[in-house]
Amino acid sequence: MSQFVLAVDDLVKHFVAKRSAFGRSLATVKAVDGVSFTLRPGETLALVGESGCGKSTVGRLVMRLIEPTAGRIVLDGEDVTALGETAFRPFRRKVQLIFQDPFASLNPRMTVGEILSEPLMLHDIVPARERRRRVGELLQMVGLQPSHAARYPHEFSGGQRQRIVIARALAVEPRIVICDEPVSALDVSIRAQILNLLKELQARLGLAYVFISHDLSVVKHIADRIAVMYLGRIVETGRADEVFATPRHPYTRALLSAIPVASPEARRERRILEGDVPSPLDPPPGCHLHTRCPYAAEICQTQRPALDDDGAGHATACHFWPTLPEQRDILPAEGKIDPRLERLFGAFAGTEA
Ligand SMILES: Nc1ncnc2c1ncn2[C@@H]1O[C@H](COP(=O)(O)OP(=O)(O)O)[C@@H](O)[C@H]1O
Ligand SMILES: [Mg+2]
Repeated sequence: MSQFVLAVDDLVKHFVAKRSAFGRSLATVKAVDGVSFTLRPGETLALVGESGCGKSTVGRLVMRLIEPTAGRIVLDGEDVTALGETAFRPFRRKVQLIFQDPFASLNPRMTVGEILSEPLMLHDIVPARERRRRVGELLQMVGLQPSHAARYPHEFSGGQRQRIVIARALAVEPRIVICDEPVSALDVSIRAQILNLLKELQARLGLAYVFISHDLSVVKHIADRIAVMYLGRIVETGRADEVFATPRHPYTRALLSAIPVASPEARRERRILEGDVPSPLDPPPGCHLHTRCPYAAEICQTQRPALDDDGAGHATACHFWPTLPEQRDILPAEGKIDPRLERLFGAFAGTEA
């Protein structure tokens, strides 16, 4: 068996954005443009970056909801990229998806008990007579009560609904859960509880997470490793604590300095990239960031920088990162995390009122 539960290798996904009257493709969105990463059992890899950089597309590719244009997806050491629906079925259980809006993903006409029984039935997880008991266990696992099985989704709060979505994902005993902005739609006061629940479940069940978020202050509390994406490519990856402490890529530095901070001195030093994210329909050649990067030189306009590993697992795709100014010249020296969130994470998960 492989040491990785998941490995993606040079994954590419192009979408056809416009077609001619004859069906010929006129414009292509390079949503994912050569992404590689690995995931170990029990580990959390965060995929971060601004909206539209391709994070959800990576998640959907790994779930096999869409087919890659190129590249490989390896689950538990087996290349599943080309498997048909039937051959893929045994793998489908291994990867589950939780996404942002728990209301949209729960059928309002089904009771919670029915919602949780469905995957148990579909994948034949427990015999019919044990389903009820298992549903109760799943509810308790996410901090709800077995008696909640009789209720409908609208009878729950947003945080509780996300707990139900998590329970449904866990019903099939997955090894990997792709969490796509799992707390972005929730109230700040409830986010920490759901993140703590995810962490607790990970420790208990040995789950591996691909944690997708545009919000670095959330990621800091859950990620073991981090991969920063910009326009379909990973520009920096490494251990989360290291990337947060010593970000190398100008894009990572800018993202980190854009996290809300409390102290006024820190705020003055913030650096935010000028301009908007260019369209993935027509990404700039060379380094995708060069149109916004304060350090860009001529080579950046023509040559794509390789994602170079420093030998210790911290990799950066920038022609100039070793010669850029010290991090403290760009980043606030302290208070990088919103202290309101910091405090919330001190409190351990309970069920919200
Ligand atoms: N089905 C699709 N057809 C065309 N373009 C798409 C489709 N899905 C996503 N895209 C485009 O691909 C890019 C990446 O999208 P997405 O993966 O959703 O980004 P993120 O999750 O980082 O916000 C965006 O430009 C988006 O508009
Ligand atoms: Mg998304």
